[in-house]
Amino acid sequence: MKRFYLYIAIIPLFLLAGCESDDDDKAKIPDEVEQDEEYYTGGKMGTVFVSSSKAYKQAMPAIDQDAQLFQQFMRGERLADRSFVTNEGMGYSGLGPVYIRKSCVACHPSYGGRGQRVETFDTNDSKNSYLLMIYDPSNPATLPLASKYFTGMTQTRAVAPFKAPIDESGVKLTWHQYTDEYGNKYEDGTPYSAGTSYEGTLIYPTVEVAQDAILFKDFDMSKHAASIEATIGIYGTGLLDAISDEDLRAQYAEEQARGYCQGKIGADIDETGQNPYYPGPHPGRFTYLCTRATLDNGPGANALWNITNVTRPNRTSNYMTEEYARVMSEDTDVQTALGQTAEQIFNDLWSKSLKPEMTQEDYDAFMVWHRGLAVPAARNLDDETVQRGRTLFYETGCTACHRPSWTTRADYKPLPAISDQKIYPYTDLLRHDLEMKEPGRTKLGCRTTPLWGRGLMKVVSGHSDMLHDLRARNYEEAILWHGGEAKLAKDTFRKMTKEDRTALIRFLESI
Ligand code: HEC
Ligand code: HEC
Repeated sequence: MKRFYLYIAIIPLFLLAGCESDDDDKAKIPDEVEQDEEYYTGGKMGTVFVSSSKAYKQAMPAIDQDAQLFQQFMRGERLADRSFVTNEGMGYSGLGPVYIRKSCVACHPSYGGRGQRVETFDTNDSKNSYLLMIYDPSNPATLPLASKYFTGMTQTRAVAPFKAPIDESGVKLTWHQYTDEYGNKYEDGTPYSAGTSYEGTLIYPTVEVAQDAILFKDFDMSKHAASIEATIGIYGTGLLDAISDEDLRAQYAEEQARGYCQGKIGADIDETGQNPYYPGPHPGRFTYLCTRATLDNGPGANALWNITNVTRPNRTSNYMTEEYARVMSEDTDVQTALGQTAEQIFNDLWSKSLKPEMTQEDYDAFMVWHRGLAVPAARNLDDETVQRGRTLFYETGCTACHRPSWTTRADYKPLPAISDQKIYPYTDLLRHDLEMKEPGRTKLGCRTTPLWGRGLMKVVSGHSDMLHDLRARNYEEAILWHGGEAKLAKDTFRKMTKEDRTALIRFLESI
C-alpha cells in the first residue's frame, strides 16, 4: 500500500518533467524577474491597477492615452450598460420583437462579475445570467442547436403582441447532490468546503422544459435536452483576440504531440465580410465551446444584435428562426393586434433588409469599449503563501491547460497599442473533457476558462460561483470538479496538505 502512494506522489512531477521539450519554457516556473511582469496580467497596455468593485470596468492604458478612443469607449459603454427599449426615438431603442435580455449587464454584471447560481430560471432576476440552450442530445454540437425551431441561444421573451418561444415558468432547474469516489473528503479526512454551510457536499444542475411551455406545437421536447451556461468575463477579450491564429494552432499541435491533456481546437469560421481587419477563416477561441473566432464577429459583437434583436448596418435581419416568423404570422392574436395579414407579418419578420436601429458610429464605439476593457492587475504575488501556491500551480500540472502566458501578435490592426504584449490569461484557449456529471453541451469539451481577474469576483460581485453552469460555489469546488483529462491534477490537489491547498487557492485569488 505504501508503495502505491509513493507512485502516485511521484507521477505528477514525473509527467511534468517528461512532457517539456527543451525549447518550451511555458510551464517552467518563471524566475523573479518574470514575476514582476506577472502583475501586468493584461500586459503593460492592457492592465489597470484597480482592485475595487469597479475592477472589470476600466479602460486599458491603450485607450486612455488616446482622447478619441477614450471618447468612443465611454459612448460604447453606455450601449452595453443600458437596457434597450422598444419605442423608436427613445435613445436605445429597437428591442425585440423576440429577445433574450434587454442589456449586456443583465447577464454580465460589472462586465465580468458573472451571474450567480440561482434556483429558478427567471430572466427578470438580476442574479440570473444563464443562457438556456435546447439541443439534440445525439448532436449537442455548436450550431444549429435545436434546428428549425429555436435560435442557438434560446429566446424566452417577446414584445407584445409577439409571443416568446418558451414560457419561462415551464423551465425547471434542479440542483442535485453529488458524492465523488472519495466520499467528498480530502486525503487527510477533511470534508470538502469544511467550515461552510455546504461542507462535504457538491452539487450540479439539470434542466427540464415542460412540453406545454413551448410555443411550437409540433416540437417534441422529449427528444431534446436543455442545459444552462453562465457568463464568462468580457474584460480582456480584446487581448485574447490579439493572440495570433498561428500561436493558437501551435499550442494545439504541441498538446497533440505531448500525448496528455490534449485540447481540441475550435473549428475554423470563415469571417470574410464579417471581420474588416482579418477576413478569412479563423479557429474558434471564444465561448465555452469555442464557437466564436474573432472579436469582430465574436460573442459580444453578435450579442449586441442577437440578445436584444437590435438591427444595425451589418445586421439587418431579425435573430429568429423561419419557423418562429411563420408561427407568429399565422397567430390570429398577432394578426388582430397588428391589423395585418399573415403574409405581411411574415415578410416583415423574415426580411433581410430591415432598417438599422443602431448607427454604425454607435456600433464602432461599442467595439472600442468591448476591445478596450482592461484586465485588473495581479495582487500579492510577493506574499510567501502566494509564492508557495504559485509553485504548486505549476507543479500540479494546472498549467498544462491553464497556460500562464501568451504574447499578442506583433501587428494587431484593430488596436495597434496592444500588439506585442506579454499577457497572463492562464488558458490554452482549447477545449478539454473534464467528464463532469451532467455536463450539458460541454460534454463536447469545454474551453479552459481564463483565470485572470477571477480572484476579484468576491469583491466585484459578492460571490464566487464558478464553472460553466456555476455549480462550484468556491475555488475548492471548481478544482474538485476537474475530472477526465484533469483527473491527475484534481487528485494531486486532494492529496495536498491543508496548508498547500490553501496556498494554491491564495494564488488563484491573487491573479
Ligand atoms: C443571456 C445572458 C447574456 C447576455 C444578455 C449577454 N451575454 Fe455574453 N455571454 C453569455 C454567456 C452564457 C456566455 C458564455 C458563452 C457560452 O455559453 O459558451 C457569454 C459569453 C460572452 C463573451 C465571451 C467571453 C469569452 O471569453 O469567451 C463575450 C465577449 C460576451 N459574452 C459579451 C457580451 C456582450 C458585449 C453582451 C451585450 C451586447 C452580452 N455578452 C450579453 C450570456 C450573455
Ligand atoms: C485538462 C485541462 C485542465 C487542467 C489540467 C486544469 N484545468 Fe482548470 N479548467 C479547465 C477547464 C476546461 C475549465 C472549465 C470547466 C467548466 O467550466 O466546466 C477549468 C476551470 C477552472 C476553474 C474555474 C474557472 C471559472 O471561472 O469558472 C478553476 C478555478 C480552475 N480551472 C483551476 C484549476 C487548477 C487550480 C488546476 C490544477 C490543480 C486546474 N484548473 C487544472 C481545464 C483544466
